[in-house]
Amino acid sequence: MSKLSICPIGVFDSGVGGLSVLRALRAELPHEKFVYVADSGHAPYGERDDDYLIERSHTIVRWFRDRHQVKALVVACNTATAAAIHVLREAHPELPIIGIEPALKPAVVQSKTKVIGVMATRSTLNSEKFKRLLTSLENQATFVLQPCSGLVPAIEALDAIKIGAACAQYAGAMGPFGSNAGEIDTLVLGCTHYPFAESSLRASTGEAVAYLEGGAPVAKQTRRLLVAANQLHDEEPGKTADVAFYSSGEPSALASAALRWLDLDAVALPLHS
Ligand code: DGL
Repeated sequence: MSKLSICPIGVFDSGVGGLSVLRALRAELPHEKFVYVADSGHAPYGERDDDYLIERSHTIVRWFRDRHQVKALVVACNTATAAAIHVLREAHPELPIIGIEPALKPAVVQSKTKVIGVMATRSTLNSEKFKRLLTSLENQATFVLQPCSGLVPAIEALDAIKIGAACAQYAGAMGPFGSNAGEIDTLVLGCTHYPFAESSLRASTGEAVAYLEGGAPVAKQTRRLLVAANQLHDEEPGKTADVAFYSSGEPSALASAALRWLDLDAVALPLHS
């Protein structure tokens, strides 16, 4: 193992949604250190344009590199990945950068009815990257696309009533869900915030529908890239991954979300980027 392997892995999202990816990263890479940035002061990303998302992504990656000497970067946000990952890779060619995209390919393999629901931000669904992915699979399944404006702010605010109303509205607009011909049997959660609304979504879709999120494949890809770069840190059996948390919004909201969803009793600090 390289000495550099003690450097942390940077993970960022527009807010608390990337915690769904961090959960998978900690499970896959329990001996690594992570620095998590919630850019909640600039959320929701899903209503922003590409220039704004590229500028925020550049700023955050520079901060990760200057302050924490990160050895890899995980863009735990479908929206920022679609808008900015290509420019981040150009700007930092030597840094392993892992992004996330809506899990359409696994959905095609898994779906029996071949009717697949995709919930994501407006910005993700309008992106060239997503359109290319969709075009490559359109002859294999029918995709029902649903932008979900308002759901991310409700999850950021941990507002159960607004989360429930948004889930009922958007799932209601997509249906019917089920395992009969013509029904949606597989739902892609194409925004990293949405797994935290799963119980509300279930009320509209029923229990039988399969939900697909991207955290686990991202964590496996991160492991692969660390191994390829001889940067994997796996020398302390029994240790659990350390995480440092920063937020450009309200740090205490990030700490509450980490406790609630990751069972991590953490302190979050303000991000000054
Ligand atoms: N969690 C993000 C995603 O995966 C962005 C949500 C937002 O800020 O709109 O797309």
